Amino acid sequence: MRVLQVAAEVFPLVKTGGLADVVAALPVATAAAGADVRLLLPGMPAILDSVQGARTVVDIGPCYGALRVRLLLARMPGTGLPAYVIDAPHLYRRGGGPYQASNGQDWPDNLQRFALLGWLAARLASGDADHDWLPDIVHAHDWHAAMTCTYMADHPPTRAASVFTVHNLAYQGLFPHDDWSLLGLSSRYMSPAGLEFHGQLSFMKAGLKYARCITTVSPTYAREISTHEFGCGLDGVIRGRAGAVLGIVNGIDTQVWNPATDAALEHRYDAERLDGKRRCREALQRDWSLAPDPDALLVGVVSRLTGQKGIDLVLQALPDLLAAGMQLVVQGTGEAALESALRAAASAHPGRMALHLGYDEPRAHRLIAGADVICVPSRFEPCGLTQLYGMRYGTVPVVRQVGGLADTVRDGVTGITFGPARAYDLTQALQRAGALRREQPEAWAAMQAVGMAQDLSWHLPAIEYLRLYRSLTAAAMG
Ligand code: ADP
Ligand code: GLC
Repeated sequence: MRVLQVAAEVFPLVKTGGLADVVAALPVATAAAGADVRLLLPGMPAILDSVQGARTVVDIGPCYGALRVRLLLARMPGTGLPAYVIDAPHLYRRGGGPYQASNGQDWPDNLQRFALLGWLAARLASGDADHDWLPDIVHAHDWHAAMTCTYMADHPPTRAASVFTVHNLAYQGLFPHDDWSLLGLSSRYMSPAGLEFHGQLSFMKAGLKYARCITTVSPTYAREISTHEFGCGLDGVIRGRAGAVLGIVNGIDTQVWNPATDAALEHRYDAERLDGKRRCREALQRDWSLAPDPDALLVGVVSRLTGQKGIDLVLQALPDLLAAGMQLVVQGTGEAALESALRAAASAHPGRMALHLGYDEPRAHRLIAGADVICVPSRFEPCGLTQLYGMRYGTVPVVRQVGGLADTVRDGVTGITFGPARAYDLTQALQRAGALRREQPEAWAAMQAVGMAQDLSWHLPAIEYLRLYRSLTAAAMG
């Protein structure tokens, strides 16, 4: 089984969120289960500069506005997994983020940057780009890689089937209708039955319409996105493909996230020896200038600061949480309004609330290890990884019962869940957590233990993906 994974980000080289964690770990897990897996990545500086032993597979010349495009084959640092990397300096070699410049504006040539990614995936699928390795499955992630599915439909490969995974339907890759001509596709695709979305051009639709199979990162989110409430305007398209949509919950990299070996932690621990966790908690309070209070429920948040994540609910709930004796520690980056509201709240409550506005992996590990609770009050959440990291670290998740949070946290067993997206309900849930920790320490410890004992690794999800891949290749042969 040959599988090509196509994505725009990969941990630890380029990461804006959980997608990068998945793209790093899923290929390794499916390879360990016997698949022959390769990645296709855009040659952003951190990727081109880190891959090893790169050699040119094909020199493509000018395309998609790039003066010169070459397809390289190299190995990923660390895992050694083979990775095709697109060397197109004009499109990818620049500072800033993968999708936006440092000023937060989308790159003006994102259409060309990610159309090229999909086009090259389709050329690999057909054998045009590399005769020596023909994939059976081409698996594209999120809108950045979604054009893969349309280009494959336009020039059907002899053997490969496409899989498209929606990690977040809210980010759709919308472009002006007039840019259509840059894609080099026949006009039959530019209609409401194809890529057109209310007068614009939608890369997300390129995946949803033309992938052989659509997956999302949890069964609940798979159901939710076919509803008006969560469908981001695409619920009709998704209902139209009802038989082809499947939810598979993400795993986590249990080597990167292991409290017994985590190099970021001052004190390491496991389920049998939780003393190290208590010391991580003390270190967190010390390092973040919180009062050294052993009784306070220490509530942690590690998150992108966007409307999705329900950070406004935390801000609204804050007075009640502090009045109940809790402490809050937040690490994140994102929308300016949320950043400044958090900054104001933190400076109004020294010793009780601490804030780090920035992206910092080791610091996130220390926060998750030291907190009592990891709080994820998202309005929607396709899967969510921080609640999984929390459970692995004996840090009890308090989450909204939505999407992947609902599928991964069992109320009263591995964490505490709440329903309505209201500050009142979040406060109640955190108060339940506080009361449990204070008044029933044995029940609290049992909750930590059940969470820590779970297999949250990629082992089982990888088997599910392989089962899906096999069913698609069997269908193609039959
Ligand atoms: P999403 O992909 O929607 O942002 P996930 O929970 O799936 O949500 O993944 C978020 C990932 O990004 C996790 O690995 C989390 O630890 C990490 N993360 C988010 N914000 C920060 C930050 N400020 N510093 C370090 N890691 C962060
Ligand atoms: C997205 C989602 C998040 C999910 C991640 C990885 O960014 O917002 O819920 O965990 O992708 O699949």
